[in-house]
Amino acid sequence: MTRVVAHRGSSWVAPQNTLAAFESAARAGADAIELDVQLTADGHVVVIHDDTLDATTSGSGRLDGTTLAEVRALDAGSWFSPAYAGQRVPVLEEVVDLLLRHPSVDLLCEVKGEWTPEEAARVTRPLRDAGLASRVVVQSFSPRTVAALREADPGLRRGLLLEDVGGDVLDVCAALDVRMANPHGRAVLRDPGLVARLHDAGLQVAVWTLNDVAHWSAAVELGVDEIITDRPDRLAGWLAAR
Ligand code: G3P
Ligand code: CA
Repeated sequence: MTRVVAHRGSSWVAPQNTLAAFESAARAGADAIELDVQLTADGHVVVIHDDTLDATTSGSGRLDGTTLAEVRALDAGSWFSPAYAGQRVPVLEEVVDLLLRHPSVDLLCEVKGEWTPEEAARVTRPLRDAGLASRVVVQSFSPRTVAALREADPGLRRGLLLEDVGGDVLDVCAALDVRMANPHGRAVLRDPGLVARLHDAGLQVAVWTLNDVAHWSAAVELGVDEIITDRPDRLAGWLAAR
């Protein structure tokens, strides 16, 4: 059965990358939550997609120019709907708590940008210490960051995100010893042999970000392992009804 991965939580119906969106995804029956992590100016891991605060919080400016205390004072829900006023930019510890409360929900954790191994350990260590290693995949678009994650915790499963899939993708995946190769939906639909080639190389495939039945259907036919979607409730229902 194709697994349902909630992209930034249930981001169709709740503000992306908030605890409300993650709780909604868990209630919707998602197999995993996808989220994005970045570092504040004072080096703390927070859950947010953009490198600026403007689009999804009440603040503005660069995240890496803002301290954790300043970020935590912001509202991360009102931009989406007044019903979500008071949602905060989560810290990783809150995500760990949520995963411990929802034992059937796994985590696909995207590390944005370029990280050193010391920085990467700020993500891998709390997940490992909480006993979540078997439920987590850490992924990045950056091969350097994936290498840093490997150095920080070689035993944690890793994924490489692929925007455009070049001819050397299997070599890059092998060099990084990743478990997953996670391509853009466009790449999968344009090249119907891609999923099979990745599977033949021993890689699992989570495709992103597909939000309608036509795309889900095509992805399932191609045999993807996971579909990353903003609409985990709809996808779970559609898969169950097939
Ligand atoms: O996990 C895949 C997907 O989240 C990557 O794109 O921009 O939504 O982080 P983006
Ligand atoms: Ca992401």
